[in-house]
Parts: sequence; C-alpha cells; structure tokens
Amino acid sequence: MLRIAVFASGRGSNFRAILQAIHAGSIRNTEIVLVISNKSDAGALDTARANNIPAVYLDQKQFDSEQDFTQALLTLLDRHGVNFIALAGYLKKLSAEVVRRFKNRIVNIHPALLPDFGGKGMYGIHVHEAVIKSGARKTGATVHLVDEEYDRGPLILQQEVDVDPADTPERLAEKVLQIEHRVYPEAIRLFADGRVKINGRSVTITEKVS
Ligand code: GRF
Repeated sequence: MLRIAVFASGRGSNFRAILQAIHAGSIRNTEIVLVISNKSDAGALDTARANNIPAVYLDQKQFDSEQDFTQALLTLLDRHGVNFIALAGYLKKLSAEVVRRFKNRIVNIHPALLPDFGGKGMYGIHVHEAVIKSGARKTGATVHLVDEEYDRGPLILQQEVDVDPADTPERLAEKVLQIEHRVYPEAIRLFADGRVKINGRSVTITEKVS
C-alpha cells in the first residue's frame, strides 16, 4: 500500500490529477495521506482540505535551523505513516536526510525531457523558454526519482510532445501540462503495482501481471 505525501508549492494540478486517478480506481492500493506546502496560500492545500486530506503549511522559515525543520518534517511524515513522497511543483530542495530516509521512494515531475533542460533555475516558464530558444523539436514530461541533486535522479517515465514553430513558452507549458497529468498518475500506478525495480541507478519497469 502506498501512503503518499504530496509536496507542492503552487496550484497543484498534478496533485489533482493523481487524486482523480485514485478516485477513479485506475491507481489502486494507494492513498494520499498528507499534503505539505511551503506556501500557506498554495492551491494544493485547498484541494487537500476539500478532499479531507491533512494539509500542512511547513516552511523552513518557521524554524531556527534546517536541522529543526528536517526533524519536524520527518516527525510529520512518520505520524501519518507516509512511505512514499510525490513532489508536484515543490520549489524547495529536500534535505539529504529526507532523501536518505526515503531512498528510492521519492518522485518528482519535470516539464521537459530530462536530462535536457533540468537543474538549478530550470523551473516553470524558464524551462519552456529554454526549450524554444534551443530550437528543440520535441519536449515533454519526465517522472524521475529524487536524489540529492536537482533533476538528476534515475528516470521512471517520459512522454514526448512536439514543439511547433508557433509555440510560445506559455502555449508549450499548457501542452506539456496536459502530458504531465497523464504521465504522473501512470508513474504512481507503476509503483503502486510494484512494477518499478530499482538497482542502483538502473530502473526497470516489469511487465504487467494480469
Ligand atoms: C509542473 O509543470 C511540474 O512539472 C513542475 O511544476 C509544475 C507544477 O504544476 N515541477 P502544478 O502545481 O502541479 O499545477
């Protein structure tokens, strides 16, 4: 059973897509048990509350040190029996201790085809601006495991979309977001069904057993 904590800093449309897939029964053996945001006004917190999911505003600013913040975060995750973390537009870097505690149990969605257009500063509209500027013909969405580096963990799932000559960064962001809403629930489903095998940095998706 996956007991997921979703971390989100913004509107939370990916969180909603995952929640809908759980409600629709296309992701089984999974519950979102907690939503955490570093922004008190994040839409993701409102969605969580509307669905009776514990919603917590937690930011390092509330603590004297990074260590205190990490301890509070780990205590909160333990209290809710979290065994899997899905970052969905979370703009903070997780501390090494959190990454270690949830090794191979943290995923993120990135709005490009990693390893291209990832890393520090590559978030939001900046990603799509960089894609257009580069002249790339394809972009897409990537779900990957989270390790200590930004956008560097092993890939789980990717889906492509064409970059059209008329695309603006905003238009591309919309197109990619549609893809994200499919690929993120699909990736969670693979974990929920026990189909993701991880060996070091190598990820294998096993065949579906029907
Ligand atoms: C998405 O584009 C995601 O790829 C990126 O942040 C955005 C979050 O959007 N990491 P939302 O809050 O899920 O709507």
